[in-house]
Amino acid sequence: MAMCNQFTDEVLKGDGFSLTPLHLGDIEDITSACRDEITQQWLPLPRPYTPDVARAFIEEIAPAMHSSGAGLVRRIEVAERLCGVIDLKQTDWKALETEIGYWVAPWARGRGLAGRASRVLSKWALGDQNMARVVIKCATGNTASQKAALSAGFVNEALARSAGIIHAGRVDLAVFSRILSTSTLRSRTLRSQGNEQSSAHAGDPRDHEVSHSAAIGRVQDSAYRQVTRRSARMR
Ligand SMILES: CC(C)(COP(=O)(O)OP(=O)(O)OC[C@H]1O[C@@H](n2cnc3c(N)ncnc32)[C@H](O)[C@@H]1OP(=O)(O)O)[C@@H](O)C(=O)NCCC(=O)NCCS
Repeated sequence: MAMCNQFTDEVLKGDGFSLTPLHLGDIEDITSACRDEITQQWLPLPRPYTPDVARAFIEEIAPAMHSSGAGLVRRIEVAERLCGVIDLKQTDWKALETEIGYWVAPWARGRGLAGRASRVLSKWALGDQNMARVVIKCATGNTASQKAALSAGFVNEALARSAGIIHAGRVDLAVFSRILSTSTLRSRTLRSQGNEQSSAHAGDPRDHEVSHSAAIGRVQDSAYRQVTRRSARMR
């Protein structure tokens, strides 16, 4: 069976908010936010969105996304309350590409939360989690979402025609991306190759771990991660 990569299950801190795991106490807030007219307009969520759907999202869908390597779901938490959900999804561990999706609850909109959370999550994905490219795809009519993507430092790079599905039908998607600079990618690759070579000669058991990780496309050596974090340049 093919080895499967996963994001680490971490809490991420932003300015005035945290990205934390969902829990069963979120059922009511998720149900309410996902019944909202604007949320339903732009996301093809179940209709009606019931508390059982929210429970399945928390107990089954989000854990499966993590364990399969497809992504990671976080609640956007302010003052201990769920104010939105943001996730990494459609992750391609060979191409080192992932996609951010989000919604913000009606009671927390208009404060820049989606953009700020996307900035934190994409920085973490490109740095600590070794991704090379993070995308956000928004329906061309969804102005608030496109503004959020831009405020997170993403660049509008393309139009994917008829690529999105919402309740109203198929829509064109504006594609935004945040990527590592070529020089950072090059030094990451060189570092990864260097680890593979040295591990073939050295007797340190940690070297085996680094070599194995590099072979599956992900270097987990913590010293390397610190260097990468310092030198990562995103654009
Ligand atoms: C899109 C969404 C996540 C934006 O979240 P947010 O945290 O409110 O984003 P921001 O506060 O950065 O707002 C983005 C822009 O939209 C505007 N905006 C946000 N909510 C608004 C509202 N209810 N009415 C009018 N404008 C609004 C903001 O003023 C801001 O514009 P500005 O940068 O010119 O000030 C949120 O509106 C939402 O959850 N929508 C429904 C689900 C959805 O569309 N998800 C994304 C699918 S791609």
